Amino acid sequence: MNRFENQIAIVTGAGRGIGEAIAKSLAEGGAKIACVSRSEANSAKVADAINAVHPGAAKPYAVDVADKKAVEAAAAKIFADFGKVDILVNNAGITRDGLAMRMSEEDWDAVLDTNLKGAFNFIQAVMRPMIKQRSGRIVNIASVAGLMGNAGQANYAASKAGLIGLTKTLARELAGRGITVNAVAPGFIKTDMTDVLNENIKSAVVGQIPLGRFGEPGDIAAAVAYLASADASYITGQTLTVDGGMVMA
Ligand code: NAI
Repeated sequence: MNRFENQIAIVTGAGRGIGEAIAKSLAEGGAKIACVSRSEANSAKVADAINAVHPGAAKPYAVDVADKKAVEAAAAKIFADFGKVDILVNNAGITRDGLAMRMSEEDWDAVLDTNLKGAFNFIQAVMRPMIKQRSGRIVNIASVAGLMGNAGQANYAASKAGLIGLTKTLARELAGRGITVNAVAPGFIKTDMTDVLNENIKSAVVGQIPLGRFGEPGDIAAAVAYLASADASYITGQTLTVDGGMVMA
């Protein structure tokens, strides 16, 4: 199925976990992928894995999304390498958990700078060319924590709620230019990020999930691919929860 034929996608945080699954799924649909990750080794590993199946389809870019100048330089390189960008998936994200009472300024800033400012940095870097070409798909990876809050994650929940507000605002600003902007809010997905939770927390979480299990990175990748595809051309400003039924609006 080549629903992304001739399309260029940037996926941030593509070095592992959900971002890796998104990059591979868009490549499977025929897109060429700019694999962005903080770590050179991880972005190269995922780009190599994609190229092994779809020769020449992926290129790695090592960049810290929180660094505006570095993002501008990476975006310039991506435009030089691929000529255009059709899809931007802002997936890079970190956690620095702790109760608000004891949260350091550094932990607050690191999470907001990566999860929220990082997404805005990439959006600004691709926005003008997308407006010129009068088409584009932007998908931001939020979290159920941004919808329902989560004790111990003041910084993370604020960053993800901010990402949802950013999504709605840009959806309104860019709709007239043929660009859709949506968010996906994953629940608990099996990745390195959730692997660090202890078994007691994991089983307490599973108890709150109607479908009774953690999700897989592929569950999020499928939702992103849908929102990035022509099938979703009449959907913008939405947050799609992919969480086994944890949050029901
Ligand atoms: P992960 O920790 O396995 O992977 C995150 C990726 O982002 C890594 O490749 C890392 O290098 C990259 N990254 C982190 N900071 C970066 C920066 N400053 N610049 C560039 N790249 C950076 O995480 P996972 O689980 O795959 O999460 C992906 C996204 O999904 C994140 O935004 C996360 O908040 C979100 N999410 C994950 C959930 C889960 O249960 N795993 C639940 C809800 C949301």
